[in-house]
Amino acid sequence: MKESIRVFSPATVANVACGFDVLGFALESPGDEIEVRRRDEPGFTVINKTADTVFPGDVNKNTAVVSLKAYLEHLGSEDGFEITFHSKIKPGSGIGSSSASAAASVFAVNELLGRPLAQTDLVQFAMQGEKAAAGVAHADNVAPALLGGFVLVRSYDPLDLIQIPYPEELYCTIIHPQIEVKTEDARKILRKGITLKDAVTQWGNIAGLIAGLMKGDYPLIGRSLKDVIIEPIRSMLIPGFDEVKEAALANGALGASISGSGPSMFALSSSLETAQQVAQAMTKTFSQFEIENHSYVSKINKQGPKIL
Ligand code: HSE
Repeated sequence: MKESIRVFSPATVANVACGFDVLGFALESPGDEIEVRRRDEPGFTVINKTADTVFPGDVNKNTAVVSLKAYLEHLGSEDGFEITFHSKIKPGSGIGSSSASAAASVFAVNELLGRPLAQTDLVQFAMQGEKAAAGVAHADNVAPALLGGFVLVRSYDPLDLIQIPYPEELYCTIIHPQIEVKTEDARKILRKGITLKDAVTQWGNIAGLIAGLMKGDYPLIGRSLKDVIIEPIRSMLIPGFDEVKEAALANGALGASISGSGPSMFALSSSLETAQQVAQAMTKTFSQFEIENHSYVSKINKQGPKIL
């Protein structure tokens, strides 16, 4: 039996504008890279070999450990593991840093143990990591991190995950301004109730987005990438949001919004060339607000996590 395994687990974009808590997709890069090694005794250790990422001091609050514990408990296993982080998405970036770690650990150990569970069944354990990180066990990052592509969370109880086909030439631009927004905080500022008018607009858009992805209808995808409920509130946490979004649209993006709970923003484009041009325009606009930022251009990740 294998003693150790090294895996990559992708960053993800949750919400995708109109799909708060119910839609997300995976990126080819960036992502987390971890190595998991069996220990001779039960329990967990975490080693951080990343350059600048600080983990929660308490190992039991680490999302990778929390998820792994839930997974092992389900299997009735008392095995112990050492988890080494070699690279890590910055926490509080809005591109699924906690979920990439949660997905990576359960995927890695499931592989080490000879795949006792199907990949879809791992999502429920990774959700426990999200609960530890954000206070809510939302699945719109961990599901695409584990399954790849676009995943719709049709229902939470029972958990019903639907993989949505999408056009091959769809590219994502991510701009990550170097400010930190904790998902837990970004959830607290949301209104608890919404008007029927906004609900009608939002469910028209989420249905339109799913239809657009499945039909490969780019104009429909663009018309549907609109969020009248969450974006107007959370965008206040991102200096220059309106201008950066405008720059993305003016440079050919189909649509743009907040990635997950922010502060990263994402844009979708129908070609690599456009996605790169959009990245340049968004970066330039952010810089006018004197906010340091990093950009990524990525194809949609079909596979989810992989063994390295
Ligand atoms: N759906 C979650 C939220 C995603 O918006 O709070 C967090 O990445």
